[in-house]
Amino acid sequence: MPIDLSPIDTAKFAAARRAARLVESGMKVGLGTGSTAAWLVRSLGEMVRDEGLRFRAVATSSRTAALARECGIEVVSLDEAGWLDLTIDGADEFDGALNLIKGGGGAHLREKVVATASDRMVVIADAGKEVETLGAFPLPVEVIPFGWRTTRALIEEMLVGLDVLGRGAALRMNGDEPFVTDEGNHIIDLHLNRIGNPRQLALVLNQIPGVVENGLFIDIADAVVIGHGDGRVEMRDLATGGREETRFDFVGRDNIFVDGEG
Ligand code: 5RP
Repeated sequence: MPIDLSPIDTAKFAAARRAARLVESGMKVGLGTGSTAAWLVRSLGEMVRDEGLRFRAVATSSRTAALARECGIEVVSLDEAGWLDLTIDGADEFDGALNLIKGGGGAHLREKVVATASDRMVVIADAGKEVETLGAFPLPVEVIPFGWRTTRALIEEMLVGLDVLGRGAALRMNGDEPFVTDEGNHIIDLHLNRIGNPRQLALVLNQIPGVVENGLFIDIADAVVIGHGDGRVEMRDLATGGREETRFDFVGRDNIFVDGEG
């Protein structure tokens, strides 16, 4: 039976598949978290199995680590790996300067640590994630469980003086319980609608006691691979301004991990 991917999954898969080609044998690579990153991990697993690709991976979440191992990828800790050659990860929003909102999957703390410990961070995303101004997607802020209500109140107070359009701050839930991150913390999602000065917001949020890390990635990403619903992929490099277009033709194929590149 042919696998019918929705346009959004086609876009995510196409971006992930192009980015997987950036991984070379011998590299140490950070693997992101989320549905787009899962396509990446599966694509890399196929390259390990069929093409003899050999690399060591650092996973940004327990979910990604489990999937990577299932796919035959060697997973090591960040401390074992040390500095990484490359990290490839998804995003919830990205702007023209490749500033990002991340953490929709609740993994932005480890994701930021891993991306910052890499020579290069490449974002993989469907075209719908590109925005002129960040903030329509709620900004995740990881906080320690102790006194989280007080931390939330401090965040709300701090937002009064900043260039944002909304100030809603909601504890992320998992059913009836607060969501718990891999580091045992909670997440407060900030419904800001528009973030006028992401750099300033990222700095002041992290000054608040109880805040561990916010989901704004400023000056961290180096390139973005943007997938489209028809299999087109655009890769943009921030430093060089270089752009490359590719097209994948796997729509309706029996096994998307065998056929594909055009
Ligand atoms: C997880 C993340 C993800 O990269 C982000 O939420 C995008 O996810 P998806 O690829 O499923 O759209 O930051 O913490």
